[in-house]
Amino acid sequence: MKILIIGNGYLGKRCADYWPDAVISDKKIYSVADARAVLQKHQPAVVLNAAGVVGKPNVDWCESHPRETIIGNTILPLQIAEACQEAGVYLLHLGTGCVFYDASPDPPGWREDDFANPVAVYTRTKYAADLALSTLPNIGIARIRMPVDYLPVPNNLIYKLVSFPRVIDVENSVTIVEDMVLACRRLLEKRAPGIFHVTNPGAIRHREIIALYEELVDPAHRNEWITASELVAQGLAQKKRSNVILQSSRLEQYGIRLRPIKEALRDTLIKYRIAKISQT
Ligand SMILES: NC(=O)c1ccc[n+]([C@@H]2O[C@H](COP(=O)([O-])OP(=O)(O)OC[C@H]3O[C@@H](n4cnc5c(N)ncnc54)[C@H](OP(=O)(O)O)[C@@H]3O)[C@@H](O)[C@H]2O)c1
Repeated sequence: MKILIIGNGYLGKRCADYWPDAVISDKKIYSVADARAVLQKHQPAVVLNAAGVVGKPNVDWCESHPRETIIGNTILPLQIAEACQEAGVYLLHLGTGCVFYDASPDPPGWREDDFANPVAVYTRTKYAADLALSTLPNIGIARIRMPVDYLPVPNNLIYKLVSFPRVIDVENSVTIVEDMVLACRRLLEKRAPGIFHVTNPGAIRHREIIALYEELVDPAHRNEWITASELVAQGLAQKKRSNVILQSSRLEQYGIRLRPIKEALRDTLIKYRIAKISQT
């Protein structure tokens, strides 16, 4: 199955690391014609859209660059989707679970078909794409949250948390990247339509991640704990962050299971330690 990955960034490259039958395109797409040309060149069986605008150095960049964020997160997915629909090619689009804010009124967490309540520019533009793409056939949306990886790289939640001198202790659904790569592969193989919450079962607190990091990677690590409101008040974030728990029943319907978060996190931190040692 030839997979075309659009977007040569962190998550696109991580998928390409695991999928020998995938090609990754770094060609910039600004129109349906551009997307059509990329499809014609590669003739894929299925497409993963891992292109988007996440903001650099962080998501607050999107607050002051709404046009660029709309182009990358709302218009670009629609252009890619149009080319895929014309060609009859299944598209899996990488969405985000950060479209939800605060606790779900229906515990234990937000469901795939719940209407979201995004606040920030980044999350509003991502949700706009979800709303439109989810009306089309032959398209899946894989919503991931706070990627947790064993590679010590800036996009990885572990790397971010241990780099911050001051950290908030919140509970979240998160996505272990190794599990995400397997789940996305299965969604592509099944050409599964609709929205999927690609998060590991269970929830995890930042305090638990850091405690396990101190146990398994660096016992000398220290940080200060602050509240979520102090994060914005102290100017460490411009906009309130999404901290939420998601339900993931649609993956189960397709027989796709991710490891429970606590088991997967321990395994990831053991590998993180090895990767960190081999970096030095
Ligand atoms: N990382 C996360 O925490 C996270 C969480 C949930 C969902 N996601 C979603 O996953 C996707 C990938 O995220 P990521 O973390 O891999 O981000 P990333 O490292 O910034 O990768 C995104 C890639 O998309 C490319 N791109 C932007 N506009 C493009 C265009 N018009 N045509 C072709 N390529 C374009 C970027 O190129 P340039 O860098 O050259 O602009 C970059 O290589 C995004 O849609 C994001 O919303 C990410």
